[in-house]
Amino acid sequence: MPKLTLRDLDVRGKRVLVRVDFNVPTEIRGGKVRVTDDTRIRESLPTINYLRDHGAKIILMSHFGRPKGKPTDKYSLRPIGEYLHSLIHQPVIFSHETIGDVPRKIVEHMGNGDVALLENVRFQPGEEANDPDFATALAELGDFYVNDAFGTAHRAHASTAGVTKFVSKSVMGLLMEKELRHLRDELQDPARPFVVILGGAKVSDKIGVLKALMEKANAILIGGAMANTFLKAEGIPVGASRVESDKVDLARELLELAKQRGVTFLVPVDVVEADEILPGANMRNTSRLSPQHGIADGWQAVDIGAATIALYQEEIAKGETILWNGPMGVFEIPEFGDGTIAIAEAMAQSGAKTIIGGGDSVTAVKQAGLAGKMTFISTGGGATLELLEGKELPGVAALTDKQ
Ligand code: 3PG
Repeated sequence: MPKLTLRDLDVRGKRVLVRVDFNVPTEIRGGKVRVTDDTRIRESLPTINYLRDHGAKIILMSHFGRPKGKPTDKYSLRPIGEYLHSLIHQPVIFSHETIGDVPRKIVEHMGNGDVALLENVRFQPGEEANDPDFATALAELGDFYVNDAFGTAHRAHASTAGVTKFVSKSVMGLLMEKELRHLRDELQDPARPFVVILGGAKVSDKIGVLKALMEKANAILIGGAMANTFLKAEGIPVGASRVESDKVDLARELLELAKQRGVTFLVPVDVVEADEILPGANMRNTSRLSPQHGIADGWQAVDIGAATIALYQEEIAKGETILWNGPMGVFEIPEFGDGTIAIAEAMAQSGAKTIIGGGDSVTAVKQAGLAGKMTFISTGGGATLELLEGKELPGVAALTDKQ
C-alpha cells in the first residue's frame, strides 16, 4: 500500500516531528567531536528545507551510536546539532532532554520555520524496546510525524515505528521516498542487463540478498572475503583465507541455483594473495585459480586479481542497471584496494544506471572521488540490505496509507 508523503501534508504552523538518521561517522579531534562524513545530514536537508519553506515548526530526532538506553556524553547529538546549524545557517535549538518538560517548553516557543533537535532517542531504554509510553511522549511534541531516517527504517523502535500510533498522520520524508524509489520501486523492473556486484566479508550476511537478486539479476559478480567460501565450494584451495566453513554447502547450492535460473554468476578467477593482512605485507597475483592451483598455504586472498578485474569490467560494461554492495577486498589497506577502485571506475564509465547500495562501497566510491558519477548512493547499511532482500521495513510499514 503506498504511503503518505511530505507533500500530502499542510504543515504551515504545525509542529512536525521528523525522525532523521544522524548516526554519522565522527572522530574526536582537539577534544571535540567532528563529523567525518556528513552525507546523512546533507541528505536530510531537502526535507528540513521543505518544512522550513512551508512554515512548519521542525522537531528533529535521531539516534547516534548504541548507548544502550543510558545518557552517554560520547553519544550526545549536541555536536551534530552544531554541525547542522553550519549547514542550514539558522540556529538549531538543542533540547538536552529527549522527552518531557524541556522539549515541551522549547516546542511551545518555536516559531514557523524554526528547527529544534532532541537529544539522542537511544538515551532512553524505551526507544529500542519500542515502549508505547516513550512513543507517546515523543508523539506529544508533534502534530505530524515524518520518517526520513531510511538508514534506521529496518528497526521497529519507538521513534521509527511506535510513535506513528499516537500522531494523526505519519508520512515519508523526501530522502525516504528517494531511497525507496531507487532501491525498491525501480528495481522491480530494472533496465537490462541488470548486473549486481556483491562483496564484503561474509556470505551469511548476504544470503537473503543473493537469493532475492538471483530472481532478478542477469549477472552476479562476487568479491571480498565472501568469495572465498564460493571458491572453496568449487574445490579450489583457499590457503589461510577467511572462509565460512559452515556455509560452503550453501555456497554450492547458490551456484547451482544460479545455473537453474540462467544467471551469470561469477566468482574470482584469480586473486591478490598476501602473507598477512597488514600494510607492507608480501603480496602477489595468483595464476588462474583451479582445484589444482589455489591460494598458497599460509597466504590469504586480500583482493580480486587482474584477470578477475578484466572479467568484471567486461560484465559491468554490458550492464544497463548496475547495483553494487560490498568491497572486493581489504580496501582499507591501499595496496589491497585496486579491485574495489576498479569496480567503482568501471561503474562510473558504464553509462548505465548505477546504484551504490550503502556501507563500505559508498566509502570506496567517495575515496575514489567518483560519488558524483553514480546515479544513486544509498544512505542505508542494514536497511538497504533488508530492502534488497524484499523485506518490508517496519519504519515504512508503520506510516499512514495513502487512501
Ligand atoms: C546504521 O548506521 O546502519 C543505522 O543508523 C542503524 O544503526 P543501528 O545498526 O545501530 O541500529
